[in-house]
Amino acid sequence: MIEIGELPADRWKDYKNLRLEALEKEPMAFGSSPEEESELAEETWRKRIMDVLFALDDDEPVGMVAYVFEKSVKFKHVAGIYGFYVRAGYRGQGVGSRLLEEALRRIRMNKAIIKVKLAVISEQREAIGVYEKAGFVVTGRSEKDLKVGKRLYTRMFMEKMLGQTRKSRPLAPAVRAIGP
Ligand SMILES: CC(C)(COP(=O)(O)OP(=O)(O)OC[C@H]1O[C@@H](n2cnc3c(N)ncnc32)[C@H](O)[C@@H]1OP(=O)(O)O)[C@@H](O)C(=O)NCCC(=O)NCCS
Repeated sequence: MIEIGELPADRWKDYKNLRLEALEKEPMAFGSSPEEESELAEETWRKRIMDVLFALDDDEPVGMVAYVFEKSVKFKHVAGIYGFYVRAGYRGQGVGSRLLEEALRRIRMNKAIIKVKLAVISEQREAIGVYEKAGFVVTGRSEKDLKVGKRLYTRMFMEKMLGQTRKSRPLAPAVRAIGP
């Protein structure tokens, strides 16, 4: 059975391995690369792991999502989601949705937060579907924003206002047909 939970800082190597797996297997899904992160210091992984929720199969991490709170005074009401990944063999079984729901539950416990935001590549249809199901809406897009090898990808920006129940809204306002 898959459990959702944190890992202590001492398990930083498990986190590093899963993070590097994610960066290698899904290069277009993340803004960072294995080359950049493989050399990061132990201290950085120990610090980062505090922001991460894991999906654990018999204590082995097979999925993860990170949530962070903005530090600066003017953005203290905003939280961010990043590093969302589920190992291929575990996808399509609700693990990602459970990770995201638990991250949102924890974010809600911080009463200062009114908004959660994230970015996703337009081709990551499964990820966008999971985000929409959790109540995120698309607020913008940036063409040719991410480059992996020679390919350019469009980044979509999504956000969720906490306390709102509305699930989604169209990208552009609907045009009302005017009769003759
Ligand atoms: C996005 C991701 C974390 C979702 O994880 P997951 O455990 O598959 O999520 P869920 O099972 O909760 O939902 C996946 C959705 O995709 C659909 N899906 C269908 N076939 C699928 C398949 N073979 N694999 C994955 N998803 C599938 C599911 O139907 C589900 O939607 P539904 O709940 O409406 O049925 C995972 O696909 C992933 O790691 N992708 C690559 C990395 C990525 O894109 N990260 C996002 C960065 S912003």
